[in-house]
Amino acid sequence: MHASPFVTVVALLLFGARAEQTEQGEAALTDDTAQCAPYSIAVVANALSSFPTIGQPVLSIPANDTAALAKFKAITGIPNIQPKGTNGVLSNDTINNYPATDPDCWWTASGCLIPKVSGLTPDTASVPEPRTLGYGFDDGPFCSHNEFYNYLSSKNQKATMFYIGTNVMWFPLQAQRAAADGHEICVHTWSHRAMTALTNEAAFAELYYTIQAIKLVTGVTPQCWRPPMGDVDDRIRYIASKLNLQTILWKYDSFDWKVASNQATPTDVQGHYDSLITAVGAGTFDTVGAIMLTHELTNYTMQTAVDNYPKLAAAFDHIVPIAVAQNKTQPYVETNVTFPSFAAYTASRSSTGSNSTGAGSGSGSGSAKGPSPSSGSSQGISAGISLRLSYAGSSLIAALTLLGAALAL
Ligand SMILES: *[C@@H]1O[C@H](CO)[C@@H](O)[C@H](O)[C@H]1NC(C)=O
Ligand SMILES: *[C@@H]1O[C@H](CO)[C@@H](O)[C@H](O)[C@H]1NC(C)=O
Ligand SMILES: *[C@@H]1O[C@H](CO)[C@@H](O)[C@H](O)[C@H]1NC(C)=O
Ligand SMILES: *[C@@H]1O[C@H](CO)[C@@H](O)[C@H](O)[C@H]1NC(C)=O
Ligand SMILES: *[C@@H]1O[C@H](CO)[C@@H](O)[C@H](O)[C@H]1NC(C)=O
Ligand SMILES: *[C@@H]1O[C@H](CO)[C@@H](O)[C@H](O)[C@H]1NC(C)=O
Ligand SMILES: [Zn+2]
Repeated sequence: MHASPFVTVVALLLFGARAEQTEQGEAALTDDTAQCAPYSIAVVANALSSFPTIGQPVLSIPANDTAALAKFKAITGIPNIQPKGTNGVLSNDTINNYPATDPDCWWTASGCLIPKVSGLTPDTASVPEPRTLGYGFDDGPFCSHNEFYNYLSSKNQKATMFYIGTNVMWFPLQAQRAAADGHEICVHTWSHRAMTALTNEAAFAELYYTIQAIKLVTGVTPQCWRPPMGDVDDRIRYIASKLNLQTILWKYDSFDWKVASNQATPTDVQGHYDSLITAVGAGTFDTVGAIMLTHELTNYTMQTAVDNYPKLAAAFDHIVPIAVAQNKTQPYVETNVTFPSFAAYTASRSSTGSNSTGAGSGSGSGSAKGPSPSSGSSQGISAGISLRLSYAGSSLIAALTLLGAALAL
């Protein structure tokens, strides 16, 4: 690590390392170094004073942001659950002493998806349409994502992008490309901490400023979010719900994020993709479709997504953004930005001749449908803890690597 790469990047962002660039101009770049060269656009530069420090966790709402403070103070009835750590880092004591009864519906411990606090919506971890993959990528926008997005465009394939607020502010034109390409954008927090290890105010701020960043840069206000490392409990779900954010998790993990920290090999990851593909053939998704965790995090994770796309497209009947699988034609607060219904999306792909239908037996329109948020918590709680926390720790490393990659330009 250099002494202060962050200062250098901020200086470049503030004072402009190159002339004002456009979304199309940035999207046309193919060289990775050129894509990742820092730049400044006026819409971001002019709004910096309304945001917390880019690249750092936002542990409290800046005192002069009266709108954010008012919105936070208006949230009453937050479940009285203690933070499970400090400053976004989970505490081993909390982990080791957490009751097996899972009082907080803490996904990290148990895989719990159905809140115990009344009035909260169950998490989304599957898509309702059978034999369908709800296609999404975490941790973007990654600066050199053009080859990946070009590939998706060449397949006329849209996905759900879970964006980190800091990355949106660093690479706003890359975020604009997602919107221009027709991808769905959801929140993945400002600085990628363990949300259950934050105070109420910090958890609110991590979500709020990411919503603000996405709105500033792309013009849309997301209504979906994915907790970093899946770390969510009923306190965090409640705060997210007050920001109109539906919590989206997954049931299958490619573990592509583990390769950067040498905790998994590419062969392991291919095995996870292959298992998902095999499960389609075995009928696992004949009534409810799948969501798998995959990342816009490194060249490796994106290239692996590209390499597996034809196999996924052949196995599943449909690959769609999560909103499309849910028929959410107006996924944003702004109702003038619309997405196709599931029927319209799949029909348009059939008519363009792309591989929207695969080799499997068709899912008749009479197939069982509808939300069925199964708990996924048949796994023993202690097994779940060790499994998921090994993930949490290393994904933080992956996130730091990501921030480091963005900094070490
Ligand atoms: C809020 O205060 C910070 C310093 O704490 C300052 O950098 C920023 O410009 C202020 N924002 C506004 C909108 O006054
Ligand atoms: C928490 O536990 C993990 C895994 O056992 C260990 O690596 C880490 O050092 C512990 N942290 C503290 C603060 O004790
Ligand atoms: C990954 O890097 C290689 C080598 O630079 C490049 O050819 C390839 O297009 C990249 N893949 C993606 C998805 O960015
Ligand atoms: C989507 O809409 C179609 C047509 O109305 C319907 O058949 C299907 O069940 C809906 N799917 C979901 C998940 O709402
Ligand atoms: C949607 O409406 C907003 C104003 O509410 C406007 O700024 C934006 O450009 C519109 N978007 C589209 C795609 O029409
Ligand atoms: C469709 O699938 C076939 C066979 O798997 C493949 O050869 C072809 O390239 C695919 N076309 C597209 C547009 O993906
Ligand atoms: Zn993430």
